[in-house]
Amino acid sequence: EKGGFEHFMLKEIYEQPKAVADTIHPRIKDGKIVIEELGLSDEDIRKISRIQMVACGSAYHVCAAAKYVLEKLSGIPVDIDLASEFRYRNPILSEHTLVVIVSQSGETADSLAALRESKKRGFPVLGIVNVVGSSIAREADSVFYTWAGPEISVATTKAYSTQLAAIYLIGILFGEVRECISREEADHYIQELLKLPEKIQRILDEKERIQWLANKFSHTKDVFFIGRGLDYAISMEGSLKLKEISYIHSEAYAAGELKHGTISLVENGVLVVGVATQQELFEKEISNLVEVKSRGASVLGLTSYGSYSMEDTADFTIYVPRTESCFATSLAVIPLQLLAYYISVARGLDVDKPRNLAKSVTVE
Ligand code: F6R
Repeated sequence: EKGGFEHFMLKEIYEQPKAVADTIHPRIKDGKIVIEELGLSDEDIRKISRIQMVACGSAYHVCAAAKYVLEKLSGIPVDIDLASEFRYRNPILSEHTLVVIVSQSGETADSLAALRESKKRGFPVLGIVNVVGSSIAREADSVFYTWAGPEISVATTKAYSTQLAAIYLIGILFGEVRECISREEADHYIQELLKLPEKIQRILDEKERIQWLANKFSHTKDVFFIGRGLDYAISMEGSLKLKEISYIHSEAYAAGELKHGTISLVENGVLVVGVATQQELFEKEISNLVEVKSRGASVLGLTSYGSYSMEDTADFTIYVPRTESCFATSLAVIPLQLLAYYISVARGLDVDKPRNLAKSVTVE
């Protein structure tokens, strides 16, 4: 059942190249992105004035990344909300807002309630869902299925990766229709998208180094994941993954925000994971890593091949292949999933079924 893997989580981590390819390929026809299931004409896409994204947990972290990606590719302003907040805050939605609910299970109570609230107010709802025929899939006006296949491990991995892929496809499609990006640019993005599965595989092939780092840091008590821009979005996911299955206290911070309070927690023995895949923010991120290092933290840098100056500051560095900066989240998440996984294994914990958690949260 686990296909020779020790845990479902590791099996699902390894299924990511295929899951991402399966999500992308059916939506590319003759070199163009075609997503008929959205049920949106070019005219409809041009009319969208705002995108409101709503989700919980890791799916919300996809929304956090999507804000950067969709705004950059499509030029449409994107608001994001936790479903448990959105449903009770009387959100002000302007005309021509597209509501997007992201959910692996399609059964999360708060996400479903947010969907119903949006529909009641007359806004079209797009569901990005993995489980076919689930409640959110049935009730949304249109559904983009992520073809990740069944996900058993409580901690999501492949569903998260396919949700990101869905965002890229929608971003490129909307961007081209709205002329925010040219045909040539769209083509370039599509080519880069198609290379992601193979790049994810390359990271998986280097898992021994992550395993080694996981063993080294398995007794750490406090971990901070810091990044800027998309690297902040990925930090949130890396932090949740770690705390969820290793029970180590961890937090994600926008790197520039640390000095507004949280840096007082940084001392000897604290691990700071510095994510720096975004070229234009690299030097800023490094200066934050210098600050935490001078206060005694161990620094684990996560960046792209070529950015070797990370080693001047970080105690250890993990490299991922280069890609378009707005797709970097898909690569940076892989070592963070592996890190959480191997730390949980090193601590002898129940990786697939962490305490107090259920795979699908159908209560409020
Ligand atoms: C974390 C995790 C959860 C889910 C969240 C939403 O690894 O899996 O945070 O992402 O409970 O679940 P779905 O996507 O089913 O709505």
